[in-house]
Amino acid sequence: LVRKVPHYQKIRFQKLFIKGGRLIIPGCKITLNPGIYIDRGRIVKPFALNCSQILILELKDSEYLSPGFIDLHAHLREPGNSESETIARGTLSAVAGGFCEVLCMPNTYPPVDRGSLVRYLINQGKKADNAKLLVIGAATKNRAGKELVSVEELRKAGVVALSDDGLPIGNDKLMYELLLLSREFNLPIINHCEVLALSKGGVINDGKIARKLGLPGIPDIAESIMVLRDIVLQERTQGILHLAHISTEKSVKIIRWAKKQGIRVSCETTPHYFTLTEEHCRHLDPYYKVSPPLRSKRDVEAIKEGLVDGTIDIIATDHAPWHMRYKKVPWIKARPGIIGFETAFSLGYEELVLKKYLSLENYIACLTQKPRKLIGRSLLVKEGDLALITIFDLAQNWLYREDRIFSRSVNSPFINKELKGKVTKVIIENKLFIF
Ligand code: DOR
Repeated sequence: LVRKVPHYQKIRFQKLFIKGGRLIIPGCKITLNPGIYIDRGRIVKPFALNCSQILILELKDSEYLSPGFIDLHAHLREPGNSESETIARGTLSAVAGGFCEVLCMPNTYPPVDRGSLVRYLINQGKKADNAKLLVIGAATKNRAGKELVSVEELRKAGVVALSDDGLPIGNDKLMYELLLLSREFNLPIINHCEVLALSKGGVINDGKIARKLGLPGIPDIAESIMVLRDIVLQERTQGILHLAHISTEKSVKIIRWAKKQGIRVSCETTPHYFTLTEEHCRHLDPYYKVSPPLRSKRDVEAIKEGLVDGTIDIIATDHAPWHMRYKKVPWIKARPGIIGFETAFSLGYEELVLKKYLSLENYIACLTQKPRKLIGRSLLVKEGDLALITIFDLAQNWLYREDRIFSRSVNSPFINKELKGKVTKVIIENKLFIF
């Protein structure tokens, strides 16, 4: 049975004037909103207001306007698993979480390793007309880790990065060649760092809970050894390297060291790696099963420190929807993943901003400016730019209820949690979404 889409409004407009609220742009001071004018999807200079077709949007004092959020890491499951998510529902779920743009991972069936599939996805994204869809191509054919894709073909079809996400690019030589190609084609390589020989057979973080329950563990070094390898290769190749969903203290230390050496590397973490620990897996509720696994308290603290000093550049969601048939099964069999779009902003606001790890401005930079920089785009707030704007209300607390989830799947351990700060409106070119 397909779940109903919760109530929201999607209003198409020609001209919009946004007044009230505050304006937050990373790198600038937070100011009162001077008034933003949008005409046919672009930010424009103030124009005569005595025109009858202007839609006026008035914000509360507690509402902030920010450049639209962009998510570098999401799974939309098309093609191959549309019972878990579709591009239409997934990109709507993204908008509900404030994301105007989403990069979708290629671990679909079949994987996105050829130009025709890239074009198909871009087309589906346009049809859905929600968050703008940007496609990440596979790095190796069939994501099998043996043979490189035709980077030229994928680039021509429109991919913005390459990754075998869900699986690492484990072969050193292939990773070396990919990093060289990333320079030539100006495409980031996003690696899921996991030495499979070390993680194989493991089902939970190799730590306290694994020992207590007598389960085989996935050690932190399965991640950090590949982080180190990638950095060594990056130093040699000077490619464009981005490390996905970093979860361990050791990885943070290695990336911090690399950045100090002037090695160009970027990385992301996700809300579950700075809000949840292995302790949450104690009852083996599959909603807490993710890859890499939830780690120790010490790792979580290191992730937050990494965000504080800029070692970790980006917050992505790793939105990983799974139909109940893949989650309502014993822990060992359950697929890893948590849906992430709709809770990301609020989780980060509470855990990082309210707990004083990050200023609001630096937090917003992790959702807007820094991920855009990786794919060679700038912030969109100037006159002439496409109107991509996220509006959130910091005074609004809300209950994350299952019946209000926009994603097609509901695999979130945060259901029934009271959240602080809510995305209330999103503007994507000529569309205003109200939640
Ligand atoms: O938890 C995860 N789920 N981690 C991944 O790397 C893949 C993802 C998925 O595709 O479900």
